[in-house]
Amino acid sequence: MKYNSIEQILKNNQAWAAKKVAEDHTYFQELATGQKPPYLYIGCSDSRLALTRFTGTEPGELFVHRNIANQVSLTDINFLAILEYAVVHLEVKHIIVGGHYGCGGIKAALEGKAIGLVDNWVNPIREIYLQKQDEIDALPTQEERWNRLAELNVQMQVKNLYQTSVMRQALQQQQAPEVHGWVVDIRTGLIKDLQVSTKKWQLRSLSLAAF
Ligand code: CO
Repeated sequence: MKYNSIEQILKNNQAWAAKKVAEDHTYFQELATGQKPPYLYIGCSDSRLALTRFTGTEPGELFVHRNIANQVSLTDINFLAILEYAVVHLEVKHIIVGGHYGCGGIKAALEGKAIGLVDNWVNPIREIYLQKQDEIDALPTQEERWNRLAELNVQMQVKNLYQTSVMRQALQQQQAPEVHGWVVDIRTGLIKDLQVSTKKWQLRSLSLAAF
């Protein structure tokens, strides 16, 4: 792969900004007035996952939180602040939890090779593997096991999202965004909607509230 130099990246920026202004001379003036994105995207930090490119979305459409292996952690103050800001203040309509096939974080959890701090971070994925070990180990290739765990991880992170105080409050106030679980297939560039059913987690949040 050929990489752009720092100088080239800055030149690219000037060319892009000039093109935008040529197409619409008020583009940046409008962009500068503020944001009201309809989507919160929670994804993996992987450099290949430029979701705006994959989805043809424009600046101002996606509010973003990324970390290794797209974790929804109930103790991550950075993530929780982003979630609350997105749901309560920006009033996003949809939350997308986006995993991907070929994820290095999933691989680290599956193979158990010691890398460093990432090993601690991906421990919840190791737990998912242990819970579903029979199903995963039954798959014929390591790649399929790796990719299945990526899907199960997305499902688990969607579930975790419904355990957050932010989502539970939003549900009780009937202002919760719709949640989607996706996996990006880097081999084809295509996004697969896992059609994660969120009904039972929604109901659980509400019934626990009543309780
Ligand atoms: Co990844």
